[in-house]
Amino acid sequence: MPNHYEEALNRIAEKYRKTAETAAGDGIIPYKSTDGIWISNPYDGNSWWTGGFWPGLMWQLWCLTGDGFFRDEARRVGKLLTDEFRSFRKLNHDVGFMYLPSCGADAKLTGDEQAETDLLHAASLLMGRFNPTGFIRAWNEPERVGYAIIDCMMNLTLLYRASRDTGDPRFRNTAGLHADTTLREFLRENGSVSHIIEFDPETGDRVREHPGQGYALGSQWSRGQAWGLYGFALAYRHLGKKRYLEAAENIAENFAAHIRPDGLTDCDFCQPPEEERIDNLAGAIAACGMQETAALTGEQKWKRYAEQLVDGLLNHCADWGNSHCGILTHCTASYHDDGAGRHTNIIYGDYFLVEALMKLCGKDPELWS
Ligand code: GLY
Repeated sequence: MPNHYEEALNRIAEKYRKTAETAAGDGIIPYKSTDGIWISNPYDGNSWWTGGFWPGLMWQLWCLTGDGFFRDEARRVGKLLTDEFRSFRKLNHDVGFMYLPSCGADAKLTGDEQAETDLLHAASLLMGRFNPTGFIRAWNEPERVGYAIIDCMMNLTLLYRASRDTGDPRFRNTAGLHADTTLREFLRENGSVSHIIEFDPETGDRVREHPGQGYALGSQWSRGQAWGLYGFALAYRHLGKKRYLEAAENIAENFAAHIRPDGLTDCDFCQPPEEERIDNLAGAIAACGMQETAALTGEQKWKRYAEQLVDGLLNHCADWGNSHCGILTHCTASYHDDGAGRHTNIIYGDYFLVEALMKLCGKDPELWS
């Protein structure tokens, strides 16, 4: 008898087998779905940071089902993304999010040589963003030359992989320098993390914290907490420094204290109580980070939190009907800007929901490792 996590995975694969065909037919990279259609992202064309999650999802479903449609669809979009290497100027630190679940997954799962070359190309782009004063530059605008963000902890896997695959420690060492700066400057005493810190690009000195996609300066944007949790757990897995695992556990403890009674996640842990602003992207990512932390520590409480989060998502926010082409509803891109989506289905919610479910079922292809 499949358990309810396996059943959910099977239902997701079944729904995607039908709805993904329309994206393939339209030639788009789906970003969100609403009113029964897939919609591309509203910014930066195929260089937008979320483009890797559609192929990542297709690779996950290929692993689950063995259906060649999913592999072909992953490669269709993977090609659109590697075409973006030529545009270059629109690419930023999020090359990890773009290329790990696309060519990175292809290289890992099929051994495709061009995909591996593309992965190393992406890793070199991320290396090129490192400021030797100690941080990886997040974005490209001249006025943000000293900005670093918590999300980048997830992109570091590109560097771990590049060192492993080439035998050259430069990539991994650079990741460690950025992770140490993030640990020192982003992690707060209460176990929460800042979203954006600006550094002096000449000296590396901290200039100030900036508000980002959360409620306010100094607040706790829940997705940032989830990126920090999962990112530090991965840093420990790859770099073996205990301080990263301790950081992951501190962030996990704070996150766990803010899971809503229904298992869902508010967009910001400091948002006004009367504000109904949920971000299930954060819950799905945190469910993966909690499981990574459980695997690294052997502590079952982290797995129980992951189950609480996944059960909340499945019980309250899974659309098995036709309102959305995807599954997970109530994803919110940013607290103050609804342009990229509020309380809707956004593609990386489904990606991380599937990853969390695959981890719970012992079937995760480990695309961040
Ligand atoms: N990495 C950007 C975000 O989480 O919205």
